[in-house]
This record gives sequence, structure tokens and C-alpha cells, in this order.
Amino acid sequence: MKRVGLVGWRGMVGSVLMQRMQEEKDFDLIEPVFFTTSQAGAAAPNFGKAAGTLRDATSIDELKAMDVIISCQGGDYTTEVFPKLRAAGWTGYWIDAASTLRMEDDAVIILDPVNDDVIQNALTKGVKNYIGGNCTNSILLMGVGGLFKQGLVEWVSSMTYQAASGGGANHMRELLKGMGVVYGAVADELATPSSAILDIDRKVAQTIRSDVPTEYFGAPLAGGLIPWIDKQLDNGQSKEEWKGQAEVNKILGTEQTIPVDGLCVRIGAMRCHSLALTLKLKKDLPLAEIEAIIKSGNPWVKWVPNDREISVKELTPAAITGGLEVGVGRVRKLNMGPEYISAFVIGDQLLWGAAEPLRRMLRILLD
Ligand code: HSE
Repeated sequence: MKRVGLVGWRGMVGSVLMQRMQEEKDFDLIEPVFFTTSQAGAAAPNFGKAAGTLRDATSIDELKAMDVIISCQGGDYTTEVFPKLRAAGWTGYWIDAASTLRMEDDAVIILDPVNDDVIQNALTKGVKNYIGGNCTNSILLMGVGGLFKQGLVEWVSSMTYQAASGGGANHMRELLKGMGVVYGAVADELATPSSAILDIDRKVAQTIRSDVPTEYFGAPLAGGLIPWIDKQLDNGQSKEEWKGQAEVNKILGTEQTIPVDGLCVRIGAMRCHSLALTLKLKKDLPLAEIEAIIKSGNPWVKWVPNDREISVKELTPAAITGGLEVGVGRVRKLNMGPEYISAFVIGDQLLWGAAEPLRRMLRILLD
């Protein structure tokens, strides 16, 4: 049985990963070893299999004894530990969800329902580093990967609506606190049907400007949005926007770069990222064929017909959150011409966007 070191299993992404590994009985197939940055020697958790005590996540010797390491500890940990491990001669498989190694030549971005061929090819060549992609890109490709796989996409413009969870657990809490602050500011007026809506609106605007907490997001998100995610680059893109083209092409292993660009926006959803896409196809295909190709992309595509009633019910965070299905809908031809189509894609940021590709990579290694 492979010895699998788990680092960062207690955090938000790590907890989702542990839950999914339990559901899929992954622990039956491995010898799990749990690492910690603060409580070495304490009892390890039991996710259906006894695992002794917690090991020191900074000990290269302890880590070196693993066949596989899965880290959800974040980019700083990878930056600190990974080079030391390789320098110490470790030849095991490294799987993580951080952006640190994603674009390195000796790393593959993992999303096996979309790029199993790229992963298998890398395994044959002896590649040892398998890194989860940026959540928005993973959800984009889980949604409309079928069109990419068939070489039909000339370019895609991706306008995103990204949930608080992409920032982390503290960001989700800040969003909820902000919602409470906004509500609290006008709770009395809301309870009085005769109160004037413009007075309520004035109070809400004032509250959003001055009282909604901004410690983690840097700007008020409750009752609003933030039109920038991650760092600013010299070319006017945000880092999140830059990742679109770089990662999508790397995931697909394209020889000729497919342009991917758009604006990334933070909105007040909890853990579902959405994308409003404009795709330019290489040819004019009937909508029925486009639908069939998108549905054939992978078994998790949840096709939603472009109909008002079903779209507002099925293509929302309320419908999608907490599940593996990736909603794809609002597909129609645009006024720009017969090769131009729209699509709305929505997926759970913590599942396909973070934890799920990691455990699936582990399963590929165990096959
Ligand atoms: N960078 C993403 C976000 C999450 O902030 O939503 C990580 O992929």
C-alpha cells in the first residue's frame, strides 16, 4: 500500500478533500500519514482508518518516507518545503492545489476528466508533480471542455462571478458578517411596511461605505461586488485574468495557444464560481450539435436548456453548491454572427475548483 502524506487536511480545502476521500473510500486503498505544522505527536484523525500520530510537516526526513504527498497547506508551504524535499533526493509524487508549481515545465495541471491524456503521457515520461488548476479555469473546462477537446474553440472571453470561498474561510465569514451588518442597519424599517424605500436605500449605502467589514477582501463585498481579483500585472490584467489563458492552454496541452481573456469579478456567493462566456467557434454548428458536444465533455456536465424557468432554478449557486455537477446553460447564438455563442457555466469552487482533482490524481496513481 502506498504511504500517502496529507498536509493541510484541517483547512477548508483540506476538509473538503477529507470528506470526499471518505465518501469515495480512498482511505481503504492507502496508508495515510497526517502531517501538521503545529501539533506533531498528537493523535492523528481517523477517517475510517487508524493513522497513529501527527508528523512534523517541516521535517524533510519524515516527508521523504512518503510515496505520495498531497498538500492543501497553501503556496507558502510548497515554496518552503518542496525544493528541499527534491534536493534531498525524494522521488515521490507531489500533488497540491497551490499556484507555486503550476506553470513549471516539470509539473502537470490536473483535471483528468478533461486532460487524462496529458496526465497519462506525463506519467509515462516520469513526471512527478501534479498540481490542481485555478478554480475558475477548472470549472470553465469541466463545463465546456467538450468544445475544446474537439478543437472547435477559436477564442473565449470569460467574464467571471467568483464566490467568497476563492479567498478562503475568513473571506466567507467576512461576507456573512457584512450581510448581517447591512440587514441590521435597516431591520426596523424593513419590519415597517410603510417605511420609505429610498430612506432604507440611503441607510444601506451609508452602511456599505462605512460599516461593512473589509479586513480580508479590502473592499465591501456584501451588497456589492469587487471588480478585481488577485494582484495587478503590468499589462492591466489581474493575476486571476492572466491565469485564464496560461492555465487553460497548459491543461489542454495545446500546440497553438487558444486566446482566453476576460474580467474576473468577486460577488457575494458563498462557494460557487460562475462564468459568462462568449465563445467564437471555428465553424457555424447547429445548436443541437453544440449541445451534444458540450454534454459529451464529461459525466458531470449538467445541461440546462436555455429556458427562463429552468435557468433561474437550476443554473444558480443555490442549485449547484455542495455538489459535483457543473451547470452549463444560456447557450445560444449571439448577434455577432453564427460562430459566436454564449454560455453560462457554474460549479462548486471547493470541489472541482480545488479538492476533487487532487483525490482523483491519487486514484490514478493507485491504479
Ligand atoms: N483565485 C481564486 C479566487 C481561487 O480567488 O476565487 C483559487 O483558485
